[in-house]
Amino acid sequence: MTAPTPELIAGNFEGKSIVSVDQISVQDIDIVMREADAMEAAKLQHGRIGLLEDKIVAPLFYEPSTRTFMSFVSAAKSLMAGVVSERGVNYSSVAKGEILEDTVRTVERYADVLVMRHPTVGSAAVAANVINVPLINAGDGSGEHPTQALLDFRTIQKYNTKPLAETVVAYVGDNKYGRTSKSAAKLLAMYGAEAWFVSPEELAMPREITDQIEERGGKVRVVKHLEEALEAADFLYMMRIQKERFPKQNKVARMFGRPSQYDQVKDQYLLTEELMRTASPTIKIMHPLPRVNEIPLAIDSDPRAIYFDQVEQGLYVRMALLALVCGRTAIKS
Ligand code: NCD
Repeated sequence: MTAPTPELIAGNFEGKSIVSVDQISVQDIDIVMREADAMEAAKLQHGRIGLLEDKIVAPLFYEPSTRTFMSFVSAAKSLMAGVVSERGVNYSSVAKGEILEDTVRTVERYADVLVMRHPTVGSAAVAANVINVPLINAGDGSGEHPTQALLDFRTIQKYNTKPLAETVVAYVGDNKYGRTSKSAAKLLAMYGAEAWFVSPEELAMPREITDQIEERGGKVRVVKHLEEALEAADFLYMMRIQKERFPKQNKVARMFGRPSQYDQVKDQYLLTEELMRTASPTIKIMHPLPRVNEIPLAIDSDPRAIYFDQVEQGLYVRMALLALVCGRTAIKS
């Protein structure tokens, strides 16, 4: 898909689609974080606030999702917006072969904001380009996941004890097909953070992205051993291997009982309780979730594991984004 370049936010989110972290500046991130603070306080005090009572949000998910889907719906409902199309696209005309452009042009007639997840890189930009209401990218294939990057940023800021320019985030797992580390590392690069990439060689962070990280002022290192990252990084960002994004021949290999590429790389970087004993006492463990087998359940009670708090930050960030694209704020002036 040839994706058009999305418009810069440049201090004003109203009416704009959020497709890529490339649209977002440090000042824009400040706006989102201040708004998210106000949303968190409002949630705590009132549960729900009627900021988007007159608006309708349409989640359009062409890929499985638990957190992103539910947090957007919860965010919309926390702002008392209506939500349409909750059943997932398998029940809609997409299953009959409707093209993306027609679906989003239809949904914009029913809703004020679209939230879309799609398996194709660039699909969010294409969809945003043909409609007149804001579209928020909830993940486009192995491309980007800008709202996850913003919630990751908020989580890091909450737990960080250093300036971001001195902070090391080690992204462990599938940096090739995964979209979360691409968006997070590009966003944190604007603050001069250091990104370490720990992946099986076949799943390394693409050169195009490491170039962009460096152009933005971030530092990049490829690290081979998980132990090194556990000793010296400030945040360890674990990720699953994106099995569904491997080329089709892997399915064929499995059918014939041959090891697929996925089988060969899947268990290379797993966190264990033993590794956690040798890890830095101050490291924080993050994960965009879902996990497959990268982190055993026993680590959840380790105070260094912050991935469920990370999940919660998604609610406040998505409340903030929904309000901002509608030109609303929970900040009392
Ligand atoms: C991630 C995604 O969809 O990219 N999940 C999420 O949104 N929190 C990570 C993944 O699927 O591995």
